[in-house]
Amino acid sequence: MKIAVTRRIPEAGLKVLEAFGEVKTLAMHQTDDGIASEALLKLVEGAQAILSTVGERMDAATMDAAGPQLKIIANMAVGYDNISLAEAAKRNILVTNTPGVLTEATADLAWTLILGAARRAGEAERVLRAGQWKGWGPLQFLGVDLYKKNLGLFGLGRIGQAVARRGRGFDMTVLYHDVNRLSASAEEALNARWVEKDELIAEADILSLHCPLTPETRHAFTLAEFRKMKPSVVIVNSARGPVIKEDDLCQALDEGLVFAAGLDVFEEEPVINPRLFDHERAFLLPHIGSATIETRDTMARMAAENIVAALSGDTPENLVPLPL
Ligand code: GLV
Repeated sequence: MKIAVTRRIPEAGLKVLEAFGEVKTLAMHQTDDGIASEALLKLVEGAQAILSTVGERMDAATMDAAGPQLKIIANMAVGYDNISLAEAAKRNILVTNTPGVLTEATADLAWTLILGAARRAGEAERVLRAGQWKGWGPLQFLGVDLYKKNLGLFGLGRIGQAVARRGRGFDMTVLYHDVNRLSASAEEALNARWVEKDELIAEADILSLHCPLTPETRHAFTLAEFRKMKPSVVIVNSARGPVIKEDDLCQALDEGLVFAAGLDVFEEEPVINPRLFDHERAFLLPHIGSATIETRDTMARMAAENIVAALSGDTPENLVPLPL
């Protein structure tokens, strides 16, 4: 059995795969850089399974390069917008993801963005590191309070709920918009109130995005939405870059329509819109939502176990539903 692993992954996952089949990676995977698509197509040739990450496009070309024996694409991620589900369905290829195990780490990172952007931590650290800090100042780096404010969540799945739970520590009021409404008891437990998207936009003091990237959520936040927000709002995205139209966010920051933005994901990863670098109020991290030692070990093991199940003729635990 040939298993193609597209990137260097934690040993915990590799061990599971190596005990089962021939694991193929490239020497260049010894780095953490994404692999060029030519190399990717070569790597997957003849594989029964591909362990992929959000950085690689699993499209028709990749699936064809692998060949008709390809049984499973196991994404080491909860999101799977890098995989063409329609193409996988056409070829009877199973697709799996790693839900649940990265919820808490990603919620922690969303809060890193919330706190960092609200308190201008990136900007303040840059000044300090540049040796430009002249001492405490009454008007220096003034941010916004979080205590008792409105925490607006666009998407209240596993990660959104974990972000909401943390908001209780700040005595925040949780407003959310999602296509799926939680049960009354789940809403009560989180102290969360469902609102229309327009109300969320108008009322949020912090707006944190926790939806998957779908045709419906692509560019859900553009200048039109930013214009309706409080100018003191902090916008945070740890979901997927294209949910925000980045050029519009830059314009909103230019015009003071929003206070600050915290971004862990970008429209054209790993390329960063240069306009974002012009904004001190943009607190930027390189897609590290699930990047803790424990979480990445678990994700790698889970993706590997999905592959072992599929190649053993069992049903993997984390199947992504494919279009019919
Ligand atoms: C990371 O972005 C993931 O979807 O797990």
